[in-house]
Amino acid sequence: MVLFVQTLVNGQLMKIIHSIKQMQSFSESVRREGKKIALVPTMGSLHEGHLSLMRKKAGEDFLIVSIFVNPTQFGQGEDYEGYPRDLENDAKLVESVGGECIFAPDVVGMYPEFFQTTIKVAYITKNLCGISRPAHFEGVATVVAKLFLAAKPHYAIFGEKDFQQLMVIKRMVKDLNFDLEIVSAPIVRENDGLAMSSRNRYLSPEERKAALSLFRALIESRKLYDAGQLDADALIEHAYKIIRSEKLARIEYIKVCDAETLEDIKTVSRNAVMALAVHFGRARLIDNIVLRV
Ligand code: PAF
Repeated sequence: MVLFVQTLVNGQLMKIIHSIKQMQSFSESVRREGKKIALVPTMGSLHEGHLSLMRKKAGEDFLIVSIFVNPTQFGQGEDYEGYPRDLENDAKLVESVGGECIFAPDVVGMYPEFFQTTIKVAYITKNLCGISRPAHFEGVATVVAKLFLAAKPHYAIFGEKDFQQLMVIKRMVKDLNFDLEIVSAPIVRENDGLAMSSRNRYLSPEERKAALSLFRALIESRKLYDAGQLDADALIEHAYKIIRSEKLARIEYIKVCDAETLEDIKTVSRNAVMALAVHFGRARLIDNIVLRV
């Protein structure tokens, strides 16, 4: 069921589709017209980071943005209920970058009664966020596969801020032979360096100030790396010191991992990623920086 359509500034119609079947047949019709479909999967509460992903779609390609707060990727006690939701404002933002369709399924449509089929990417989900959120990536992989099957994109665009998520999706696409391409886009930051995230809105002014330590820690650690420090523990300790100086920060992890396998490393001898998760009040923030060899 197409619940409503809006007139775009350029006179075209933007559709908001809630039903999976409708989405599939609509995407089929777009494909039959010979257009390429770009999908940007999101959980809504859109910000400039999401818009930068949408702007990555090429020229005349047809942009679908999915908006679905996916319950299966939230753990117990996490912010599923309170996760910000504002479809009306999101629609305006999608429209502002030339998006032509929003796919906003509901939970019952995505997870019918007796739902029991999931996708588990085995190894790269174990480290980093997978330690404190053991079911998270199974939820992500499963919902993203379902979004692919509904929206039938030629390519899908994901941000590098969720570095591990990006790797998980790439792995799944390769392992399951999905006929689409994964495009990645760099982290978008506020002017002062804070990585854009829907969860930044949970931060009080004091927490937001303290959260600037994340980017500072990553940048300073990379400077140390650029100056010749290849020892992972030394780089991690450097980042710890900077973030620990902020009383409001509760560090979940700071790690240096192989950029492909996401395994912890002792020495940076291949491309690596320094990744961290830090809590400020009720906001759990993640960020990362790549250390290229
Ligand atoms: O990155 C997100 O917003 C979500 O994890 C995603 C990819 C939309 C799956 O729910």
